Amino acid sequence: MPGSALTGRIRVPGDKSISHRSLMFGALAVGRTTARGLLEGEDVMATAAALRAMGATIEREGDGTWNIDGVGVGALLQPETALDMGNSGTSTRLLMGLVASHPLTATFTGDASLSKRPMGRVIDPLSQMGAQFTPSPGGRLPLTMRGASPAVPIEYRLPVASAQVKSAVLLAGLNTPGITRVIEPVPTRDHTERMLQGFGAQLTVEETGGERIIEIAGQAELRAQDITVPGDPSSAAFFAVAALLVPGSDLVIENVGLNPTRAALFTVLRQMGGQIDEIDLRDVGGEPVADLRVRQSRLHGIKVDPALGPAMIDEFPVLFVAASLAEGRTITTGLDELRVKESDRLAAMAAALGAAGAKVEEREDGLVVTGTGGDPLAGTADEPVVTHLDHRIAMSMAVAGLASRNGVEVDDTAPIATSFPNFTALLQHAREAAPA
Ligand code: S3P
Repeated sequence: MPGSALTGRIRVPGDKSISHRSLMFGALAVGRTTARGLLEGEDVMATAAALRAMGATIEREGDGTWNIDGVGVGALLQPETALDMGNSGTSTRLLMGLVASHPLTATFTGDASLSKRPMGRVIDPLSQMGAQFTPSPGGRLPLTMRGASPAVPIEYRLPVASAQVKSAVLLAGLNTPGITRVIEPVPTRDHTERMLQGFGAQLTVEETGGERIIEIAGQAELRAQDITVPGDPSSAAFFAVAALLVPGSDLVIENVGLNPTRAALFTVLRQMGGQIDEIDLRDVGGEPVADLRVRQSRLHGIKVDPALGPAMIDEFPVLFVAASLAEGRTITTGLDELRVKESDRLAAMAAALGAAGAKVEEREDGLVVTGTGGDPLAGTADEPVVTHLDHRIAMSMAVAGLASRNGVEVDDTAPIATSFPNFTALLQHAREAAPA
């Protein structure tokens, strides 16, 4: 669907990471937590359903506010049936952390994509804390686990840069006597730390020599909170890249979360020559938020600093699209983690962009993309590109379609509903809006 410019003002849905955590921490708090702006995507709904199955009351009011009546730390109940995690790695790994220090048995199942993803990275530390696991071969779902009571506090140095693993250990630590300590050699998104502090947990973060040491005191009480969820920078990313690429675009994306552990895509796009202005930088519920004005720009390729990787880990698929239209080469490295996301995102994007006419070389830990210098891609001719049940591949290739002569056809748009249910409607709205 090549063609018209993106203009006017849009607002993307709430942050997925913060939405999952709002429900989980609310479910463990004493009293009623409210969440406004919660993402109502399938992944977050999978978290809600699992928490309900373990005793929390979670309801949506007519005005879109979510009410969560918590059970208190340590009081989750035995679920009666398997917990269906759908496509959501965050639901699975964080809930495994919660279950690990409760005296209950839970079975986790997921779709074909989630059932391929490695769970050993959370099974290892949670086993050290005393939980017991019966996973499918390769440490995968379906998996049954038995939580420990009491669990044993550990000190755990993260072997991979993963906020999900960090969070799983900290959440297990919530109901573990004593101090649970996580050492993070490379900083990853810190919503768990910020939000648990907001809920009154005794959690400290110390930074020494580039490492972060996070400690949580167990068996404390969480206090219910009123949460406003900022817009998801990972969803805004698709619109930012689309507006940079489609001629004549000048788009304002309102209410975008700009937590420094999340916002590196915008830094990289600016380094490539993208005009992205922050308007009215403010604080929403302890997170920095701004409106972003994005204007079509001539982009040039760069070598992306691998140190920025964790702060834009979900944004590489759409960065590769931007790189395909830039002048010269964009080189990315250090991205092994992309191979274990909802799909192998290096292989999936190399194949999809290649099929749409981009020049892409796949390396073990990154892609090298040689851009067209602004000329549109050809687009797909006969065969749709394969999205492998990965919402971000589908949305990235939709953006590539806007910057192509013939458009891009994707095989399956259904996974978009996991994180961004109104993506297509919002895109249509931005392309039909009167210029700002
Ligand atoms: C997330 C952490 C990241 C990210 C995912 C959400 C989170 O995963 O890719 O979309 O909410 O903690 P990893 O921890 O596996 O990097």
